[in-house]
Amino acid sequence: MGMTVNEQDPVLDPPRIEHPDELIVYVNGEYLPNSQATVSTLDHGLMYGDGCFDAWCGRNGYIYQLDAHLDRLYRSVAGLKIRNLRMEQAEMREAIIETVRRNGLADFYIKVLVTRGVSPHPVMDPRKCGDAGVVIFARPQQYEVSAERMDDGIRIKILALRKLSHQGLEPQIKSLNYLNNVLGKLEAWDAGYDEGMFLDESGYACECPGFNIAAIRGNTLFTPSRGILEGITRATVMDLARELGMEVQTGFYTPFDLTSADEVMMMNTVSGIVPVREIDGWVIADGRPGPRTLQMQATYLHWLHTGRHGTQVFPERLTSSALSTVDRASAT
Ligand SMILES: Cc1ncc(COP(=O)(O)O)c(C=O)c1O
Repeated sequence: MGMTVNEQDPVLDPPRIEHPDELIVYVNGEYLPNSQATVSTLDHGLMYGDGCFDAWCGRNGYIYQLDAHLDRLYRSVAGLKIRNLRMEQAEMREAIIETVRRNGLADFYIKVLVTRGVSPHPVMDPRKCGDAGVVIFARPQQYEVSAERMDDGIRIKILALRKLSHQGLEPQIKSLNYLNNVLGKLEAWDAGYDEGMFLDESGYACECPGFNIAAIRGNTLFTPSRGILEGITRATVMDLARELGMEVQTGFYTPFDLTSADEVMMMNTVSGIVPVREIDGWVIADGRPGPRTLQMQATYLHWLHTGRHGTQVFPERLTSSALSTVDRASAT
């Protein structure tokens, strides 16, 4: 599998998809118009952030890395001891595909929330919740980082606020309790930066609110190993680096390791691969996005669009030249 555009990738017919008048949301077993999709005020997800979520992106009808995100979602469910989820992973997979289908979206963003469910009283007793709650959104593609910043790179602040330690809440659980990240984003924005970077309690770089971070020095790509949510896009970046013939290292890195790198990038599902041009006043290399970062950014977008590691929501749109199987992950 090469890094360049693969001419063999299937070309899809233009979308012939029905769009509903109002977005459809899956809530606890029902597909409802957005205006009718509601959850209880006594849901533990609302009252205590007691739940977890995951998010996917899709282009051209393909859901990128459907199963990798699903596996992570179910690891989060288990990590939070949510034992009352009455939906097997296979059933959840079908409901996600069906939600995208019903919304008639070709380029989209999916979010699944699992909460511990509704409590009989507004007091904290997770044992008393009924069945776990499930909400599935599929929305038109979202943009977190402007097109200009995607091209020119972003400026990030080293946050004064520290990343919550795994001793308090394991960051590999993608919980609904995102206050550490929300406050980190506000700190960065209030200081006039585009985004921020958390350090852990020992001063090692971890991740950014809602993004992982990686850097390149010489022929090595390196990315923090602990104190992070193990991102699916981070895993893709590591794959892309190996394909470019680079070494990949994970470990503990200081801010200096990053500020003195040749290239720095942030990555997540919504935004893909984002070049970083400055960290807290330290300009990275010549202040322009690195060539390998831009190459990875382009290849990643190509993968999304052509269904590499993708599951096609509208298999009827595949032309005869396309692979016979809908899930192309196994073909890579
Ligand atoms: C805290 C945090 N770290 C990293 C990421 C990146 O993960 P992924 O690439 O799976 O989207 C996210 C994604 O939203 C996140 O919330």
